[in-house]
Amino acid sequence: MNDLSDAGFAELTAKISRDRGFGCASYKDKCLRRRIAVRMRARGVHTYTDYARVLDNDQAEYDKLLDALTINVTKLFRNWDTYGAIADKVVPALWDGPATTIHVWSAGCSSGEEPYSLATLFHRHAERAGALSRLAGRVQVLGSDIDARSLVAAQAGTFEEGDFADTPDDLRARYFAPAAPFAITAEVKRLVRFERRDLLADAPPPGPHHLICCRNVLIYFDRSTQERLFDRFHAALAPDGFLVLGKVETLLGAARTRFAAVDGRERIFKPL
Ligand SMILES: C[S@@+](CC[C@H](N)C(=O)[O-])C[C@H]1O[C@@H](n2cnc3c(N)ncnc32)[C@H](O)[C@@H]1O
Repeated sequence: MNDLSDAGFAELTAKISRDRGFGCASYKDKCLRRRIAVRMRARGVHTYTDYARVLDNDQAEYDKLLDALTINVTKLFRNWDTYGAIADKVVPALWDGPATTIHVWSAGCSSGEEPYSLATLFHRHAERAGALSRLAGRVQVLGSDIDARSLVAAQAGTFEEGDFADTPDDLRARYFAPAAPFAITAEVKRLVRFERRDLLADAPPPGPHHLICCRNVLIYFDRSTQERLFDRFHAALAPDGFLVLGKVETLLGAARTRFAAVDGRERIFKPL
């Protein structure tokens, strides 16, 4: 029998949430179904009930499923145009602003490419301004993710050739080791720290934050969850802070009147 009923799906996702604390209920069904189907195919299993049994007997398969559900695809300077806009419109405004410490939060940072890219932009700005001696005390970048394994990779601060597809040559030459494992320079690495945080279950890290980057994460959540997170981000931002979303994400519901676009195309917003 090829039973892919809604009831079977509901039972399986409730089980995953119970067993692994992964809040399936807040993710889009379509996305979960697609990811679970990939793992079921890999195991040659045709019903949700049978797959639940596999999970009970094989913790390695459970880890693979969680890996598939979290979708960790990322890149350094992913969508360079967005980073160009952050470099022009966000970094100088924050650097010249009143904050004693500029708090940057990369929420859903996967293996660290995003927080390291942001820290690099601040380093480059401080270097050009001849103010490098002030940088370490002034800028703190926090990368957080639900996936502990991605965070272990993030802490290492090393990258593969494919991670550089969107990275301009000058930034690569200045900030990364020339040979594998292409480590990020220590001057940037020390600006960044990592924490495991579940955006659905944990409060935002203590702020106020001057830049919250939550890119290519909200897209996997259902609409009401996205709206709840926009509220949280709004409350966590400093009045002169910025929110950056992914290229295919946008503000929904009340958030549309609570943020103003700084650069609509690059999905950069300010709280109102
Ligand atoms: C596609 S990656 C995005 C990485 C990076 N922001 C970028 O745009 O390149 C999505 C990340 O969101 C994380 N994620 C998914 N659900 C989460 C949750 N509830 N709390 C925190 N992170 C979550 C995943 O583990 C994954 O690392």
